[in-house]
Amino acid sequence: MKQQFSILAILISVLFTTACRQAPKLQPTGLVAEKAMVVSARVEASKIGSNILAKGGNAFDAMVATELALAVAYPFAGNIGGGGFMVYRKADGTTGAIDYREKAPLAAHADMYLDSLGNVIPNKSTTGATSVGVPGTIAGVFAVHKRFGKLPMTQLIAPAIALAKRGVVVTEKQEKRLKRYRNIIAKVSGDSTLLALSYKQGDTIKYHALASTLTKIQQNGRDAFYKGETAKQLAAFIQAKGGYITEEDLAKYEAKWRSPISFKYKGLKVVSMSPPSSGGITIQQIMGMIEPHNLANYGHNSVKTIQVIAEAERRAYADRNYFLGDPDFVEIPMQKLGNKAYLKERMASFSLDKATKSTDVGHGQIQISESNETTHYSIIDAAGNAVSATTTLNGGYGSKLYSEELGFFFNNEMDDFSSKPGVPNMFGLIGAEANSIAPEKRMLSSMTPTIVEKDGKLFMVVGSPGGSTIITSVLQTILNVYEFNLSMQEAVNAPRFHHQWLPDIVMFEKGGFPSETIQELKAKGYQTTTDRAPILGKVDAILVLPNGKLEGGADKRGDDAAIGF
Ligand code: GLY
Repeated sequence: MKQQFSILAILISVLFTTACRQAPKLQPTGLVAEKAMVVSARVEASKIGSNILAKGGNAFDAMVATELALAVAYPFAGNIGGGGFMVYRKADGTTGAIDYREKAPLAAHADMYLDSLGNVIPNKSTTGATSVGVPGTIAGVFAVHKRFGKLPMTQLIAPAIALAKRGVVVTEKQEKRLKRYRNIIAKVSGDSTLLALSYKQGDTIKYHALASTLTKIQQNGRDAFYKGETAKQLAAFIQAKGGYITEEDLAKYEAKWRSPISFKYKGLKVVSMSPPSSGGITIQQIMGMIEPHNLANYGHNSVKTIQVIAEAERRAYADRNYFLGDPDFVEIPMQKLGNKAYLKERMASFSLDKATKSTDVGHGQIQISESNETTHYSIIDAAGNAVSATTTLNGGYGSKLYSEELGFFFNNEMDDFSSKPGVPNMFGLIGAEANSIAPEKRMLSSMTPTIVEKDGKLFMVVGSPGGSTIITSVLQTILNVYEFNLSMQEAVNAPRFHHQWLPDIVMFEKGGFPSETIQELKAKGYQTTTDRAPILGKVDAILVLPNGKLEGGADKRGDDAAIGF
């Protein structure tokens, strides 16, 4: 009887909260396309992906072409020297995911970034050859093509090669980025290295060495990267610079198909990336904790809404940092972490009257560094197949180590491991034993490529860069559409905030929130900042409108662009 009563109570509360959401908005404000769309960080990459779709390629073909085009057009995060994750939903409703995350070299070990006293050696896991993990991107695109591709691989690689030869025009934002990173790139890779040179908006950068590496891959397949001449050059280059990657590491690399995380939030089904990314399970935990609250009634970015979300984030990140790691190496209590009763219990200490202290949830003292590295792209093809992919070098321009011969930057993904339990990485994330370093282990990620269904149909494809802020940026974008009825473009552009347990601080995008909101939160005991995050995330998303057309959300924070037809 008691059980029936609680089921009834849950049903009534779900119906009530669903009914309370405002009426759906009819007017999209982003680009609307009839059938197919690609949204990415650069117009050149979105165009290349969209052209592949127009030529009869499917979303998976477009994934290959877009990923490689970003490696040319967006060297800040697009890559063949890094890795990523892709979640897909086919037109028939089947879902899946692939992990082409970097992994630790065979020579890696738990203490590799510690000195003889057990202290973390500054910069060793973040900069230069010592920070490089075994790259996964080329394995990823070949695995996707092998399983789902329609057009020949040579045709999918060709546009990226042509773009590299033709060159890419420097944008205003890119000019600023290159200026900001020039000294460190020059320090690590030499001051005559291609991207350490001085560029102005409107200049064209040609990537001949990258074109030549991509041509070898086009002619000889994935082995042209992981075996033979290129692998020899790559391993010799990294080792000459003091790093650890060997030809054996490259030869052994494989992308892995994974089962994505799937869960319900009110009337939505959310499909997102599973470990070794923390994205899916953490967003499941946050959404599970906020589900009993009527955010639509509280209002968009209102004090109450911010409190509920920040408190759920606080608790979910505390779990993330303790329990998560590479599932091939550690036992993760996935069922328990996503369990509704467990999540209810986690929120039991929450009160709208005052902030919970992170020291009551966990403990530690850290600095956070802002970051919007990594890049995400979303694709829907004319048949209704959807791809959500996030790819990264970790830091901006990765390790800053650029091979002139091969034409690309290498990742600094080894910093996503926990070099020493309790010591924060570059995103201020504190790791535990579950994410310690071991040979061939994959480092924990926050990448959250996500696909959302509503009423059993494709609803949204969404993802973001931003290190630890990825998860909360994706979350807010979904809520902005579903709870607050913003259009896709408005949802992407809306100001964001972020909490990650430690440091115990709510980060707000500068200028995005009224000072009264922030004052009210401070009065309730929240520590806040608008200085550490000029921007949070850079979301690229697609919404399926009620009439079946597609609305793109290309983040105004970058040079992002939606292209479709
Ligand atoms: N390197 C950022 C992430 O994987 O979360």
